[in-house]
Amino acid sequence: MNIPVERWFKAIVVRHSRRKYMDKKLDEDTVNKIQAVIKELNSYFDETRLVLVNKECSQIFKGIIGSYGNINGNSPAYVAMIGNSQGERIAEKIGYIGEGLILEATSLGLGTCWIAGTFREKKVKSDINLKENEKIYAITPLGYIKSDYSLKEKIVSKMVSSYKRKSLDELCLDGFNEKWPNWIKTSLNCVRVAPSAINGQPWRFKVNENSIILSADNPKNAEKLYKKMDYGIAMLHLEIGALHEGVKGSWEYLESPNIAEFKIDNTKTI
Ligand SMILES: Cc1cc2nc3c(=O)[nH]c(=O)nc-3n(C[C@H](O)[C@H](O)[C@H](O)COP(=O)(O)O)c2cc1C
Repeated sequence: MNIPVERWFKAIVVRHSRRKYMDKKLDEDTVNKIQAVIKELNSYFDETRLVLVNKECSQIFKGIIGSYGNINGNSPAYVAMIGNSQGERIAEKIGYIGEGLILEATSLGLGTCWIAGTFREKKVKSDINLKENEKIYAITPLGYIKSDYSLKEKIVSKMVSSYKRKSLDELCLDGFNEKWPNWIKTSLNCVRVAPSAINGQPWRFKVNENSIILSADNPKNAEKLYKKMDYGIAMLHLEIGALHEGVKGSWEYLESPNIAEFKIDNTKTI
């Protein structure tokens, strides 16, 4: 993927899930920019695609007001994240490209929130023509937000301890080492602040000299769909962190409970 490294790196730092939106339509320039990034992200894998639905979506989100998943203030648009359910590693791929969209929207000043559980699938299906075997994995509202969090947002955020993150010492299987090169420390920190379903942070890392292995926190439920999206999100964040430090690499999928290995390309440091 053609990653706009610095823009998305900055977005990683400021992004948080937002659940209250202003009653204001997306302006034309913003819609065009979102459509452009969707075009790019949709060219990345054959079996996944993002679709912008540029209409008010009060009926789409489930959840009692103030509860997890409730989107208050009706965002003026949303993006559906769609994949071929028969394909390979689809949920991971959805995580990867879906997070690209989330970071681009964040850099345009929009609010976003991954919603995988608490949306009305039937309503979304009535907005989109799905092809055979296609499934909607997640959606995100898109809209303008106030810089301050609403009371309800604070309640939901507290409920899932949104701001709490595990330490890198806990996330790294052999503990964290301050002496690691910057590309490793930055890329791990980029994953640490990534969004994950109910803030589960199901990622663990094995750090080698020229690679990082991403694995699941718990082999017993490593295959859960929402966790697989979390892994894909982590893969994009890790790659952005490495690129920010001038290190290029590529991913290779591994068998569960390992997820994938990021191997640096020694010949192509940028
Ligand atoms: C795959 C995935 C699914 C999620 N599903 C929901 C959801 O159904 N409802 C919701 O309110 N938040 C959902 N979230 C948002 C998480 O609760 C949020 O990312 C986490 O608490 C960390 O908070 P932050 O995004 O503000 O850093 C989801 C996040 C991910 C990555």
